[in-house]
Amino acid sequence: MEGVAGDGLAKGAGVISRALAGTCAGLPDLMLRALSCLPMPRPILATIDLAALRHNLAVARRHAGARKVWAVVKANAYGHGIERALRGFADADGLALLDLDEAARAREGGWRKPVLLLEGLFTADDLPAIDELQLTAVIHHRAQIEMLAAFRPRAPIDVYVKVDTGMNRLGFAPTETSASLARLAALPGVRIVALMSHFANADRDDADAGPGAVSDQLRAFEAACRSWSGPCCLANSAALLLHPQVGGDAVRPGIALYGATPMAGRPAASFGLKPAMSLAARVLSVRMLAAGASIGYGSRWRARRSTRIGVLACGYADGYPRVAPDGTPVWIGGQRVPLVGRVSMDMITVDLTDVPHVDVGAEAELWGAHIPVDEVAEACGTVGYELLCALARRVPVAERN
Ligand SMILES: Cc1ncc(COP(=O)(O)O)c(C=O)c1O
Repeated sequence: MEGVAGDGLAKGAGVISRALAGTCAGLPDLMLRALSCLPMPRPILATIDLAALRHNLAVARRHAGARKVWAVVKANAYGHGIERALRGFADADGLALLDLDEAARAREGGWRKPVLLLEGLFTADDLPAIDELQLTAVIHHRAQIEMLAAFRPRAPIDVYVKVDTGMNRLGFAPTETSASLARLAALPGVRIVALMSHFANADRDDADAGPGAVSDQLRAFEAACRSWSGPCCLANSAALLLHPQVGGDAVRPGIALYGATPMAGRPAASFGLKPAMSLAARVLSVRMLAAGASIGYGSRWRARRSTRIGVLACGYADGYPRVAPDGTPVWIGGQRVPLVGRVSMDMITVDLTDVPHVDVGAEAELWGAHIPVDEVAEACGTVGYELLCALARRVPVAERN
């Protein structure tokens, strides 16, 4: 870990000086030389493990059986980077995402297989790009059908028709599905590929889920399917891993592909998943805090004993949650130590008393192989999804293959 991340930090420095050089094109030579003497970037680094992405996709495939696998890569591949996802998920049958910009990046990166726009078109202005990039659009609302009706594509646009079976966000009601299908089928510029739905409670056992359980949504979907005999696409990660009764012809896992859990309280490792992102930062400063002294904003944490405090180069502006409570685990010096004091914009503080060998320059893992992102998320009252997606742009990213 030390070796890989150390290397990565150096690479991060390279990336940052190149970026600086890029923004400084046209500046006098002398000034550029002065800029190239700028110190190292902050010692923080996210590392994306492409082998873990491939491994997790293989796990999803095993669960999917004969079903096709859309790798969900919205939100910049849950913070991992679209371009890296293209390589990590090269074996997927398609990519599912939200933004035309991300779809264009996938195409520019050489992705020739299908790309599914999970919310379809937002306005009629999206249609030329959907046509040009040959994207598959989810159609969930009458307004989108009217936009399609008024557009003349070069080739018929592939669509997935979304049925609202209980999530009550997007989709046609089961009772309006057959009319929507008929209207779409009548449009020469449209080819209906599949019917889809999304589960609200696939992360819970059906017995505990109450109304809106997976089985309720499946029943609603079957009702909608009376006027459709083609392919169906239902399962997200939780449905894929936890509800084998959910069938269909294609699945749409997201979070599991990044090695985080879709189910609170059930570790990702128990599904055989490997974390694809690790976030590491180095110790900037070590100081002794006398018993009774407090630390950081709001003096939230007060030392009960004489305490050795380490300050790490990672804060909420890097994506580490500000709400992290005292005791949130951090991995350093071969063991877990507790976060103490409020998370600042650029720093966190940890109790190093029990790792006396750890000093300035030592590397800490905020999440990754030793500290599952889900554990940090749980301490913060949220889910791994949110932490991964919130990785800040200012954090340099390295890759491991
Ligand atoms: C429509 C749809 N399908 C699939 C997914 C993937 O879900 P997960 O990351 O829980 O596997 C999402 C994510 O929110 C989604 O919105």
